[in-house]
Amino acid sequence: MTIVILFTFVVELINLNNLEVLIVQENRLNGSLQFKDMTNFSSLEILDMSGNAFTGILSPYIGALPSLKAISLSQNKLNGPLQLHTKDLGMLKKLEELDLSDNNFERILPPRLGKLTSLRFLDISKNQFSGNIPSFVIASLTSLEYIDLSYNHFEGLFSFNLLANHSKLKVVQFKGENYRVEDDNKFLKVLLLPILQENIGKILNLQYLNISRNHFQGNLPSSIGDISNLEKLDLSNNYFSGEVPTKLFFNNSLRVLELNNNLFRGTLPDMVSPAGRYLGILDISNNGFPGLISKWLGNMQILWSLDMSNNFFEGQIPCEMHAYILIDLSHNWLSRLSPSCADLSIIPHLFLQGNRLTGLVPKVTFSVSFHVVTLDIRNNLFSGRIPYEVGELSNLRILLLSGNNFSGTVPKQLYWLKNLEIMDLSKNYLSGTIPHCFRDITFGKLNATDDFDEQNAAADFGIVFVMKYRSYFYKGGILDIMSGLDLSFNKLTGEIPLKLGQLSPILALNLSYNQLTGFVPTTFSNLTQLESLDLSHNNLCGEIPSILIGLHFLEVFNVACNNLSRKVPDMKGQFGTFQNSSYKGNAFLCGPPLEKSCTRVDSSPPLPRKSLTTSKGKWCEVDPLVFSTSFWVSYVIFFLLVLIEYHIYRCYYFAFNMLRRQLNYTCH
Ligand SMILES: *[C@@H]1O[C@H](CO)[C@@H](O)[C@H](O)[C@H]1NC(C)=O
Ligand SMILES: *[C@@H]1O[C@H](CO)[C@@H](O)[C@H](O)[C@H]1NC(C)=O
Ligand SMILES: *[C@@H]1O[C@H](CO)[C@@H](O)[C@H](O)[C@H]1NC(C)=O
Ligand SMILES: *[C@@H]1O[C@H](CO)[C@@H](O)[C@H](O)[C@H]1NC(C)=O
Ligand SMILES: *[C@@H]1O[C@H](CO)[C@@H](O)[C@H](O)[C@H]1NC(C)=O
Ligand SMILES: *[C@@H]1O[C@H](CO)[C@@H](O)[C@H](O)[C@H]1NC(C)=O
Ligand SMILES: *[C@@H]1O[C@H](CO)[C@@H](O)[C@H](O)[C@H]1NC(C)=O
Ligand SMILES: *[C@@H]1O[C@H](CO)[C@@H](O)[C@H](O)[C@H]1NC(C)=O
Ligand SMILES: *[C@@H]1O[C@H](CO)[C@@H](O)[C@H](O)[C@H]1NC(C)=O
Ligand SMILES: *[C@@H]1O[C@H](CO)[C@@H](O)[C@H](O)[C@H]1NC(C)=O
Ligand SMILES: *[C@@H]1O[C@H](CO)[C@@H](O)[C@H](O)[C@H]1NC(C)=O
Repeated sequence: MTIVILFTFVVELINLNNLEVLIVQENRLNGSLQFKDMTNFSSLEILDMSGNAFTGILSPYIGALPSLKAISLSQNKLNGPLQLHTKDLGMLKKLEELDLSDNNFERILPPRLGKLTSLRFLDISKNQFSGNIPSFVIASLTSLEYIDLSYNHFEGLFSFNLLANHSKLKVVQFKGENYRVEDDNKFLKVLLLPILQENIGKILNLQYLNISRNHFQGNLPSSIGDISNLEKLDLSNNYFSGEVPTKLFFNNSLRVLELNNNLFRGTLPDMVSPAGRYLGILDISNNGFPGLISKWLGNMQILWSLDMSNNFFEGQIPCEMHAYILIDLSHNWLSRLSPSCADLSIIPHLFLQGNRLTGLVPKVTFSVSFHVVTLDIRNNLFSGRIPYEVGELSNLRILLLSGNNFSGTVPKQLYWLKNLEIMDLSKNYLSGTIPHCFRDITFGKLNATDDFDEQNAAADFGIVFVMKYRSYFYKGGILDIMSGLDLSFNKLTGEIPLKLGQLSPILALNLSYNQLTGFVPTTFSNLTQLESLDLSHNNLCGEIPSILIGLHFLEVFNVACNNLSRKVPDMKGQFGTFQNSSYKGNAFLCGPPLEKSCTRVDSSPPLPRKSLTTSKGKWCEVDPLVFSTSFWVSYVIFFLLVLIEYHIYRCYYFAFNMLRRQLNYTCH
């Protein structure tokens, strides 16, 4: 209805026969489009009604506009099949641009679309067109420069041979849905057969081909390397297999090459390739590429981001590797990193997780650089001390060293890392105490002034960090606000430094599975952003400070398997949500949610030691790694000899201790 009113308005104002351009973008016009009444728009060349709320079918009378060159009806709610009247088709012959994207059109594409032989631009993405794409349509539209069929429900076979005569074609987009849901038809189910050998060479002007997230399968035809103007090629998330044709790296201007998430096998071409001249982004992750990492990667002078993760690459990491933003070699079989390899230290985001790298961490690689922002060497076999020089990576924001064989103390120089957001040193053999100076790490209190912010935004990567008992994947902006410290599964001793309470922006703190003693610091009440606090499986004693009730965001709280005593904090605020599992394995804790009431607890509970150990054992045998028999034997002996007195002292001279530690505190 509204549109009719609008047109009446127009009719009264202007001489329609001379109207050449009509743009009514982004209003809230609704109702159906009645092109029947528009026969008088005889000069109309450009009609843009995108971004409104038109509904109903598209009237076939659209063809009655004789001068029309460009129509955009994108971002409306038009539906039904796309109809084109035979009698009007002649008039649409001049049509060069047709944009019907982001509507609800359905059924098959009308073969008559193929009659619009002047079409240069065709975008029917984000609709619900289904069935086969009529080959006639594609084969006839030889003037096409841009075609986007993404996000529909097409299926069946699509042959690139059909594009053989499309010498002007520059951009092809057949992207699928974001998720690879096998039974969901909401993406183009197309099979690419290696039948285009001779013909693809004619598509010489093609610059951009994106057919990611489809069901394409089979080998890549080597002729794909002949598309000499190709700048961006995205074949990711398909079922392509076999080898990548050598030619692909030789004979074109590729700047972006994404082959990730396919079934490619066979060695990558191992030679110095001119392709390196232009390549900015290379992603071959999640395939089955074997063998050594070719030297030619070193020749890519302007490489920006290189992702080779989740393949079967082995042997040495070549020192020549370089990328301005990111290199990801995670989850391969790489075993060596040359100790003198300094070049890697200028890569801002370096991921070497899940390989078989052994020996000492090469100091020269991982120190003295202001470039490094993310360093992930988790789950390798690195051993020895964590070199204190890591503290000199002054722009480091994410340091992930967990799951290695690191031993010795936690270098206190890590507190030099003023920009650190996430530090994961868990699952190593680190001993000694937690450095007091960690409070100087800002953990997310960033000064957003440095040069790397822009690069960070551009780098497309995420990391996994465990909090709230789960592995979370953080990416982009979310990663920026994440901050956490994980020292779990080590052999750390001594007390938890009160100063840790000054890490106020921290969201996750995990000190579980160590041998920490002393109290749960009351200063933790200053960790106001804390969502996840795990202090379980230590030897902490004393009361749980009830002031922690003030932590409004705390979702997970775990102090199980310690030697805490007295009343647990009232079930107020977030503490009302914690179950008795948060407290289990502390024989002297009482009060709800625990079944044990607190009536007689004020005087120290006179439980025989034997029952204490058994009860603790019952709860705490969860992890044989830490609570192994030998550990228990030595623990009990140690306990008998030393700890009793020590603990009595610690637990009863609480105030004095705090004072003493504050006075003695020094970082330098
Ligand atoms: C068109 O929009 C108006 C105002 O938003 C609304 O009242 C009316 O119901 C809409 N008509 C249709 C057919 O959606
Ligand atoms: C088209 O123009 C003719 C005269 O120029 C007029 O009589 C007719 O009503 C117009 N049609 C519409 C639908 O405006
Ligand atoms: C390309 O054009 C040639 C010559 O006009 C024709 O023989 C051939 O069938 C066309 N190819 C396709 C796929 O339409
Ligand atoms: C290809 O399309 C997908 C969306 O389906 C997009 O995420 C990706 O960045 C595109 N690739 C390139 C190289 O532009
Ligand atoms: C590069 O492409 C041109 C034209 O497409 C072709 O003649 C030539 O053989 C190709 N060279 C290689 C090394 O593939
Ligand atoms: C890592 O530590 C474990 C346990 O101490 C030991 O068995 C293993 O040999 C070590 N591996 C390396 C590569 O140092
Ligand atoms: C942030 O900037 C202020 C002043 O610009 C400076 O004093 C402070 O040390 C900086 N903090 C960090 C962590 O770099
Ligand atoms: C703390 O770390 C341990 C070991 O790494 C892990 O099992 C546990 O789930 C973590 N706790 C939380 C609350 O995420
Ligand atoms: C929390 O921090 C403030 C300011 O740094 C300090 O005055 C206060 O004593 C701290 N609270 C605890 C319980 O440590
Ligand atoms: C546990 O704490 C109590 C005081 O609450 C103390 O008497 C006892 O020795 C401690 N036990 C262990 C194993 O540390
Ligand atoms: C924990 O609570 C559940 C019920 O919520 C109860 O069955 C169980 O016995 C309790 N365990 C302890 C150790 O209090």
